[in-house]
Amino acid sequence: MSRNPRKILVTSALPYANGDIHIGHLVEYIQTDIWARFQRLRGHECYYVCADDTHGTPIMLRARQEGITPEALIARVHDEHLRDFTGFHIAFDNYHSTNSEENRELAQGIYRRLRDAGLIEARTIRQLYDPEQEMFLPDRFIKGECPKCHAKDQYGDGCEACGTTYAPTDLIAPYSAVSGATPVTRETEHYFFRLSACGDFLRDWMARPRPNTGEPPLQPEAANKLEEWFEAGLRDWDITRDAPYFGFEIPEAPGKYLYVWLDAPVGYMASFLDLCRRTGLDFDEFWGPESQTELWHFIGKDILYFHALFWPATLHFAGYRTPDKVCVHGFLTVNGQKMSKSRGTFIAARTYLEHLDPEYLRYYFAAKLNDRVEDIDLNLDDFIARVNSNLVGKYVNIASRSSGFITKRFGGRLAAQITAEQEALIGRFQEAAEAIAECYERRQFSEAMRRIMALADEANEYFNDTRPWEVAKRQGEEPQLQQILTTCLNLFRLLTLYLKPVLPQLAERAEEFLNIPPLRWSDASLLLVDHVINPYQHLMTRIEPKQVEAMVEASRENLAGNSSAPSPAEEKTPLEPIAPEITIDDFMKVDLRVARLVEARPVEGADKLLALTLDLGGETRNVFAGIKSAYAPADLEGRLVVMVANLKPRKMRFGVSEGMVLAAGPGGGDIFLLSPDSGAEPGMRVK
Ligand code: 2FM
Ligand code: ZN
Repeated sequence: MSRNPRKILVTSALPYANGDIHIGHLVEYIQTDIWARFQRLRGHECYYVCADDTHGTPIMLRARQEGITPEALIARVHDEHLRDFTGFHIAFDNYHSTNSEENRELAQGIYRRLRDAGLIEARTIRQLYDPEQEMFLPDRFIKGECPKCHAKDQYGDGCEACGTTYAPTDLIAPYSAVSGATPVTRETEHYFFRLSACGDFLRDWMARPRPNTGEPPLQPEAANKLEEWFEAGLRDWDITRDAPYFGFEIPEAPGKYLYVWLDAPVGYMASFLDLCRRTGLDFDEFWGPESQTELWHFIGKDILYFHALFWPATLHFAGYRTPDKVCVHGFLTVNGQKMSKSRGTFIAARTYLEHLDPEYLRYYFAAKLNDRVEDIDLNLDDFIARVNSNLVGKYVNIASRSSGFITKRFGGRLAAQITAEQEALIGRFQEAAEAIAECYERRQFSEAMRRIMALADEANEYFNDTRPWEVAKRQGEEPQLQQILTTCLNLFRLLTLYLKPVLPQLAERAEEFLNIPPLRWSDASLLLVDHVINPYQHLMTRIEPKQVEAMVEASRENLAGNSSAPSPAEEKTPLEPIAPEITIDDFMKVDLRVARLVEARPVEGADKLLALTLDLGGETRNVFAGIKSAYAPADLEGRLVVMVANLKPRKMRFGVSEGMVLAAGPGGGDIFLLSPDSGAEPGMRVK
């Protein structure tokens, strides 16, 4: 590492200012917050900044639907977001907004520098236009019939029913999701950032170890993804939108606005600039081209393209430093499936906080997170079991078991001395500090939790083996009793320190109980002896299953009772009319079979598809199904489904699909596979 103490700026992705924070978002904020808190505990200078991502068409339209100005909408959401984050103990040094003067100044400056470097080019494009609303329509705001499978009401960028991706101009009978009008094609001039000219720079950036960290900036999975993009060829990036648009107008090109994704990451800088202006920190020390401070971004896998291609390229060619690390995490599933409003697993941060302690979730996510780009699952039964057994049953238990005797028998005073054997036990806990720190540093939080809980087991074993409740009954063994409890409380103190990045509030209560100043990592080497602690106050309660049930129920109710206008993506699809009559012979042409789903895999480059291998009772078929939004592959394997076995094989972008699996539902999280009753065998015909 370059210096000690290190100077680190860390960010999480900026949430959009038109939606609530939910537990899926929280994976990232909790991950980043744990890492940032850990760095501060180590004595490093670490700033964690974020902001709301406020620009773009969806936010403009959302405000219009609510009959308020975009500014009023984003002010309200800013407060809500900040309240939710604070509720989960996310300790930002600043939470700003992309709709700020700092961001305007920086984004326009970056645009000008890129233009002066010859990297901006004007091009005439053809785009669909809503003649009623007098606006160009982003792909997501155009709907129509899928040109492939003819499903109705599909979005302009791809079909949720069959998984085909296409251009909005390919839709049959397209209509504007804003007004319902039939869009017309219009020509307009947009500015493009010449990403195609940045290939050499980007290859070098991603391959070269960073001086600050000694490592390249991307995880292996993310680096592989970049290789694919390089191979496919970098495409220039359309960075302007026409009025009406909510964003930053380009002063020298009235009526043209910077596309939201250009000014969004600049929001990281703007948030930090705002912090600098309020506290006297030196902005250039962190963002100047020669900066020796560290810059770490935490993001989800869906926005890698923006953060690993556009962002370093725009920074570099605008004369700023580039990121040291882009840490990519996967998505959250709940009970093995995509979060779903109808199942009550699309849980808003606020709803969670109305029912449960935020530190339960912080601990559970920590126990699941590692440094790879993997999805993590919140299994609600496992959540209850792990929190209760590890946090309450193991960690808190040590304090609650040891404290009664110390308070009643010794007025809270710990022994002045302990035995060599006891010191050795504590010494082993102290020595674990470096290995645990390394896990935190490398974002292998699950490994850190595993090690800490193994120590907690040892502490409980020590308590059980030394049987203080029996020692307490024996005359003249007070000194031994006091030493045993002193040892246990020292072990508890070390566990508290190791868990502190994850459980800041619980650590604060434990520090209060132990009557010690806020723990820092360097305190691992201390021994707490001849010291008076406070009487034990309850530290954490067990989760009752009914609390979780109530939270899930409330999340379901939220959907039904949600009075705010739905965004286009949430509109309820009306039931399809019944298709024209057919004869039994027509029906018998369709050969439906029971099949066993042997394997399900995600498809590289397809957001909605899973590749399924189906066993038809001897014969095997490969089918691409657009069910990824509702099912995790692991949950599908082994189950029976019904498939159309005589459908003409269809060549898709990813391979040949040899049939179709039957499912109902409007799409998104609401796709429901059909399954036969038990007893059915693969290959049986359905009629
Ligand atoms: O995907 C999103 O939710 C974006 N609002 C993230 C922006 S991150 C950064 F670039 F601003
Ligand atoms: Zn389709």
